[in-house]
Amino acid sequence: MKNFYVTTPIYYVNDAPHIGHSYTTVLADILTRFHKLLGYQTFFLTGTDEHGQKVQRAAEKRGVSPQEHVDEYNLRFKDLWKKMGIDYDYFIRTTDADHKKFVSDCLQMLWDKGEIYSKEYEGWYSVGEERFFTQDELDENGCDPISHRPVDWIKEKNYFFKMGKYQERLIEYLESHKDWIVPDYRWNEIRGFLKQPLNDLCISRPKARLSWGIPLPFDKDYVTYVWFDALLNYVSAVMKIDEKGNLVPKRSYPDGETIWPATYHLVGKDIITTHSVYWPTMLFALGFPLPKHILAHGWWLVGNDKMSKTTGNVVNPMEYMEKYGVDAFRYYLARDMVVGQDASFTHEGFVRRINSDLANDLGNVLNRVHRLVLTNFEGTLPKPGTFGAEETCVQEIANRLTETVPELLESVKLSQAVEETLSLVRAVNRYLEQKAPWKLAKDASKKEELATVLFVSAEAVRIALSFLFPVIPTKSAEGLAMLGTSLEGVRDLAWGKFHGGERFGEGSALFPRIVEDAKTPEASPKPKQNKPLAAESVPAEMDIRVAKILEVNDHPDATSLYVLKVDVGEPEPRTICSGLKSSYSPEELKDRMIVLFANLKPAPLRGIMSNGMLFAGDTDEEHVCRLLAPPEVAKPGDRATFRGISPSTDGRILKLKDFEKISLEARGKAVVCGESVLEVSGKAVTCDIQDGAKVH
Ligand code: MSP
Repeated sequence: MKNFYVTTPIYYVNDAPHIGHSYTTVLADILTRFHKLLGYQTFFLTGTDEHGQKVQRAAEKRGVSPQEHVDEYNLRFKDLWKKMGIDYDYFIRTTDADHKKFVSDCLQMLWDKGEIYSKEYEGWYSVGEERFFTQDELDENGCDPISHRPVDWIKEKNYFFKMGKYQERLIEYLESHKDWIVPDYRWNEIRGFLKQPLNDLCISRPKARLSWGIPLPFDKDYVTYVWFDALLNYVSAVMKIDEKGNLVPKRSYPDGETIWPATYHLVGKDIITTHSVYWPTMLFALGFPLPKHILAHGWWLVGNDKMSKTTGNVVNPMEYMEKYGVDAFRYYLARDMVVGQDASFTHEGFVRRINSDLANDLGNVLNRVHRLVLTNFEGTLPKPGTFGAEETCVQEIANRLTETVPELLESVKLSQAVEETLSLVRAVNRYLEQKAPWKLAKDASKKEELATVLFVSAEAVRIALSFLFPVIPTKSAEGLAMLGTSLEGVRDLAWGKFHGGERFGEGSALFPRIVEDAKTPEASPKPKQNKPLAAESVPAEMDIRVAKILEVNDHPDATSLYVLKVDVGEPEPRTICSGLKSSYSPEELKDRMIVLFANLKPAPLRGIMSNGMLFAGDTDEEHVCRLLAPPEVAKPGDRATFRGISPSTDGRILKLKDFEKISLEARGKAVVCGESVLEVSGKAVTCDIQDGAKVH
């Protein structure tokens, strides 16, 4: 049998779960349900990360012992998963006795093999990140480069894992397993990271400084570094070390097969290095097999901002589910994040998505078919007459899903898989509009045609609901019950289950339309009110930067768009969506220097947040444009300004509306706003278009 073992990160129990945690867990749940449906043996692991400084601090703050704290807080996750219909196989806690034993056994094995050594170490230590940083790694203010909080200079003896010696082996592994990290740009990122020498990893913390951890078996004055402990959960949940020191199964699939290695570790992009550098080198040293794939998803932003407790914009999944139902929330998460990219959560976006896909498209066809069968055929699905071209077309779209959806899911393209299913629903809606069965019902001579239309629609909706089962399990079952059926197995995904004669069940609107004024269930912070910008101020306020295109990908949901990763001289590359398809091939774009409107309000373009827009000039041909070119000396991040206009430094975010107040055009291959030439360090930005052509 084919096996599928998926894991989520284990979540720190210092805080309440939020939309970020629920996303990964729902993704794992959906993938598991799909694989189960397709006949795989599955194992789904989630849990909580209960050691380390963050947790110890949270407990101290509440005035309870760390154990009391974790015993209470892990339940928040379990409760949420229950409410969300998460069907995991095992919930691991790193304070479980057998996990602690496993970690201790692994450490002893590595110590015995000489893979761990001790040395006096000094360096910059970040309490928040619980790790040391080198001088070079600190940010421009000398703070920790991740949380940007101050670091302390600490000198102490510690234990180190010889991670560095596995650098070459890891590089070879990556080179021969290009799909080991998905999406591919994360593979590139890690491959790039490995171009620098790989240091050994400090895996201990002196008990004097941090007591809440697993003691090192070979030195009781130390506890294990929380990441070293946490990563091992993926193995310890299903395997153990026997007396001879061999890795043997603790849990197995129903047919007795071993569960480790995992098929997918699902993680957020912020913890990709720990998973694709620390973890595989630990496994190399232990002699354990590596997971098959690591998948890094992007961040859920709230509007355009990172979620943070200080700004109070944390989306609480419970409130959404209570108000709009579990399945609506699951559907939104699955559909609105293109796996890998950041996604923007807005209340309006949520309402729009649920209303259009579930209330209108899916709810509508189901209700129509259900009502028409009830009123015209006393609730029994009629046998169809002969199929014409339209019927065959619907049937073909439905059958296509049995190939496309599993294929998309194989590479975890969940939002596309959902969209593909919805395309069937929309096809049925179009078919119903075309055939107007409500009119046929009024004409006794059209009874057979009416029967065919209702049969075809019912069978197609049945299939769509079956494909949606992993995403919206409860509503899918309710919808199928309305059609008098249920999902029994993989066969039900194909055309041919209904024959006519099936008795329909009771029914009511599956997804009532959400009608409300656009307010979040919780008070969302008011956006900063900017005074409208006068046209004269726009050129100074525009933050125009030189950028380099690092990657070019097709937009998964829009044929005319590319999704570009660009280096704007910031720590992380930016993602921008751009309609350049009819003007440039991906090869022409890769590594090209461009000019970017960097402080334009980020906006989702067909589901992908575009963080800035590039500048290009019009040509005579429709849809064909030419990119602006920075002067040769320019580097990513350099600012382009208009000659004679001093650029503002107030960090204001502009809207497209602001930009539309001015006009940019080509003059003698340069770009001008009025009389001012756009330039970088005194050299003009150029564009190979006719004089007078617009730049936008
Ligand atoms: N305990 C570690 C993981 C150890 S795994 C061996 C940890 N925990 S965490 O609770 O801080 O984060 C867990 C996951 O939540 C990470 O994958 C992180 O990317 C994800 N998210 C946290 N905020 C997020 C968003 N706003 N959006 C999407 N996911 C984000 O790290």
